[in-house]
Amino acid sequence: MCGIVGIIGKENACEIILKGLERLEYRGYDSAGIYVANQETDHLVKAPGQLTNLAQKLTPEITGNIGIGHTRWATHGVPSEENAHPHLSQGGRFVLVHNGVIENHLELQETYLNGLALNGQTDTEIVVNVIETLSEKEHLSAFEAFKKALEEINGSYAFALIDTQDPTKLYIAKNKSPLLIGCGEDCYLVGSDAFAMIHETNRFIELKDGEIGILTPQQLWLEDADGQTIDRAAYTAEVEAADIEKGLYPYYMLKEIEEQPSVIRRLLQTYFDEQHQPIIDDTLIKQLLASERIYIVACGTSYHAGLATKATFEKLTQIPVEVHVASEFAYHQPLLAKEPFFIYLSQSGETADSRQVLVQTNELGAPSLTITNVPGSTLAREATYALSLVAGPEIAVASTKAYTSQVALMTILAYTLGQAKNNPLCSAFDIFHELELAATSMEEILYEKEALKIAAHDFLANQRNTFYIGRGNDYYVALEAALKLKEISYIQAEGFAAGELKHGTIALIEEATPVIGLITDEKTKAHTRGNLQEVKSRGAHVLVIVQANFAQDGDQVRLPVVHPYLTTLTSVVPTQLLAYYATLERGYDVDKPRNLAKSVTVE
Ligand code: F6R
Repeated sequence: MCGIVGIIGKENACEIILKGLERLEYRGYDSAGIYVANQETDHLVKAPGQLTNLAQKLTPEITGNIGIGHTRWATHGVPSEENAHPHLSQGGRFVLVHNGVIENHLELQETYLNGLALNGQTDTEIVVNVIETLSEKEHLSAFEAFKKALEEINGSYAFALIDTQDPTKLYIAKNKSPLLIGCGEDCYLVGSDAFAMIHETNRFIELKDGEIGILTPQQLWLEDADGQTIDRAAYTAEVEAADIEKGLYPYYMLKEIEEQPSVIRRLLQTYFDEQHQPIIDDTLIKQLLASERIYIVACGTSYHAGLATKATFEKLTQIPVEVHVASEFAYHQPLLAKEPFFIYLSQSGETADSRQVLVQTNELGAPSLTITNVPGSTLAREATYALSLVAGPEIAVASTKAYTSQVALMTILAYTLGQAKNNPLCSAFDIFHELELAATSMEEILYEKEALKIAAHDFLANQRNTFYIGRGNDYYVALEAALKLKEISYIQAEGFAAGELKHGTIALIEEATPVIGLITDEKTKAHTRGNLQEVKSRGAHVLVIVQANFAQDGDQVRLPVVHPYLTTLTSVVPTQLLAYYATLERGYDVDKPRNLAKSVTVE
């Protein structure tokens, strides 16, 4: 979702900001803009569409030593040049970029703007004009006007503001939307995440909700919501610029799919000791063991990862587990157990829907754990405990390695709990060894990726709709497979419980409709095959993805055999590759699907 980059103190501010915006492209956007200034001149350049449209407008004379840039994911108002940020106030004094949603923007407009004509439809344009109005009417300095405006605002925001009359300071503020300060040499930066600034620094200062700050080239002034000065030390981020390069890969998505075996191995190094015993914070384990019921709350792919681990989690821990979509849970909370424990699965750790639930469960005093790929993220900070997915930056909008890492880490957690409870199922499960085997099996599937390229061509590339079907965990992988396919290839895809098809949806099957069956479970393999026969008899073009020990003649994709608790790690890989290759064939940008954002920071 919207991305922000700003810098003060470097002569080539424009170049640095553009690079930062490129690094934020993965978040999803549909227009972009840059404002740069120095004591003599300033420039505001915006363009709808891809960043290259903006880059083409940036001529060499557009320079400055202070600037802010933005990639916008449209919420209020269509993607257009007028609605792109930065927004300039009508009097021309203030320039603002914003990530978030101002809930009371219409009230602010009515209270402060007195019918002032605006250029676009965004909430941000209202805010920048409120700041200007306050500064004029109440004779406030830029900082005072900014603070006063923040007091009036309800909603989520990360703001970066420049006063064009005094371009020697960069004003920033944060509430519920991510914003990080970068500490460079003789310069300060601000960005939606570390990637946006990693080409200039790897030292960062976290900004918390309600905080506001002023940056100059040499100094940083921060205060909290009560006006108390904050002195916060910088930390060094582990992320390297090389981690976020594509290298020789044509797309990040392929790189990230191929990284999955090494992500599993990194989890083994991180969460096991030399004797191959799990090492997870003892207090977390005790608190989980004391819980009566575990609630997994997540969205999209992370929700599917929760579903894909539920059965194993219950078996190993003997604690009931419910998996919930965050945006539903937030407004329709089920009756909770007396001792609930909440697990938030979130690649980005910034998802507003999940955070909304976390705020509520924190108010209830319920213990929680966030499992995320971004250790310092909002959900990680606000939960009682946090565990890192150690998957390395995931740049492609379509999540792949974060999913498999979530499934693997949830299994490690379940095993640790089961072991603490002396569950005999854990003694019979050499998890370290089995995860090693699963990583190797994933590699074997990846070696065969050409076959999946052909299958994508034969089964999917020219289709308008597709079904993935399976039972139990195969059904949960079917949900994820369908999401992956639809979000990047724009083929309408449905993940379906194989047995449920005949209760209505089978009416959609016609000549050549692709139906992809997933079979990795001894118990249900015969039934799923029966369901595949039913659709075949009605003309479906059937592709079978099956674990090798259950394969039959004619099955097209055979998966290496892994432990039954780990099948969702391997069976998802061919479906990721099918989505990738189908999208390539259809000529779409695999990494940046339309309308989507990597980090969904609005509800
Ligand atoms: C799909 C995808 C999304 C995210 C969802 C939750 O490929 O990436 O469905 O899984 O938006 O995001 P996180 O995991 O960051 O909370």
